Amino acid sequence: MSTQKIRPARTLQGSLTVPGDKSISHRYAMLAGLAEGTSRLVNFSTGADPHSSLGCMEALGATVRKGPGAAVEVTGVGGSFRQPVASLDCGNSGSTMRMLAGLIAPHPHTVTLIGDHSLTLRPMERIRKPLAQMGARIDLVDGHAPMTVHGGPLRAIDFTTPIPSAQVKTAVLFAGLQAEGTTSLSEGIRTRDHSEHALKAFGATLTRTPGANPGDPSKLSIAGGQKLKAIDATVPGDMSSAAFFLCAALLFPDSNIVLDSVGMNPTRAALMDVIAALGGRIKVLTVEEQHGELIGTIQVNRAEGKLAAEPYVISGALTAQVIDELPVLAAVAPYTAGGLIIRDAQELRVKESDRIALVAKNLRAMGAEVKENPDGLEIPGNQSLHGAMIDSGTDHRIAMAFSIAALRATGDTEIDGAEAASISFPEFFTALDALTQR
Ligand code: S3P
Repeated sequence: MSTQKIRPARTLQGSLTVPGDKSISHRYAMLAGLAEGTSRLVNFSTGADPHSSLGCMEALGATVRKGPGAAVEVTGVGGSFRQPVASLDCGNSGSTMRMLAGLIAPHPHTVTLIGDHSLTLRPMERIRKPLAQMGARIDLVDGHAPMTVHGGPLRAIDFTTPIPSAQVKTAVLFAGLQAEGTTSLSEGIRTRDHSEHALKAFGATLTRTPGANPGDPSKLSIAGGQKLKAIDATVPGDMSSAAFFLCAALLFPDSNIVLDSVGMNPTRAALMDVIAALGGRIKVLTVEEQHGELIGTIQVNRAEGKLAAEPYVISGALTAQVIDELPVLAAVAPYTAGGLIIRDAQELRVKESDRIALVAKNLRAMGAEVKENPDGLEIPGNQSLHGAMIDSGTDHRIAMAFSIAALRATGDTEIDGAEAASISFPEFFTALDALTQR
């Protein structure tokens, strides 16, 4: 494991392009692999996770050509995956394992999905249930990977997601696309909708019917037996990677960062409101749309003037909307005026690590006061932190979150297991170095 030293900074200034969105890259990789024809995907994520998805698609019969740069070409199987000769390795990627299960379940193959140690600790029962209802047999070991999917013809279901999970929603939509009949799905709390946009981009028809009464969840319906056609697309920059720099801008009065071509899908952009509430000033300089996804250029700096000394509360639907950004928001929370309270975030305990426990542990290592609750954290504001040895838990978002917190600490910080950043953002430390002034 490599250790990365982070020295305190004076400010952060400059412009930056973050890698292609991880969530969208997974979906484009999988749908391109199933589709007929060759998809050209520009700015595909450089992170290891979406490349796990590409590797799985190759094993299922798709052809993948990488380069130049972050471009990827995928020639799909035209609707019929082949029986892979070995287990499919999903690496560290929960998205790959869960979404792929839905994509391959309608095919007459037996496929085993494996992953690294962290992935074998993550809950998979949430995927097994709806796919079993549709007629697939899924074997798990105590609710965990390795997962063996015994696929075959599936029937449509009417499903309500019991937990807010875009991955579960996606698995059901991907299976429904290839099932007999029309599959419907409702989610109590709306999660990221990249799958809905991606399915439409590849030519599928999908409808959303509003709930009967105000506040009732809307219903998504997808007819089975639909064929997909290859696309040309540019993947927007990843808002969850941009988040590290948006949070860093909160730390210094004269910070000024411009983020180019970043994904601003409304189901991912609530982060910008949170940043504003914590003392950031964000200007949207440009916005355009491609395949249903918004791509924009944003400028962020710290707002002038006095900020509320009340803690900012993230709970309910907002928690689901910023779920991946919570580690970095928590890591910079001690430096904010009023601090941060995070509630309804029990899902954070079953991400690449137990992110609630690790954030609390690392904040305490840096000298911060923090209260850990079963479903979140309470972090007072206006605290001073010191450098420390950080345990990344081999979790990419923990490694990067505490690299940001380290910028305003007194003394140096060492991030143990810093190489985990490459799961979503291999260029992170170089980018951080380029923008940091000391
Ligand atoms: C993702 C959904 C979220 C998120 C993950 C990516 C996706 O997970 O935390 O990093 O691409 O659909 P859940 O669906 O488990 O909430």
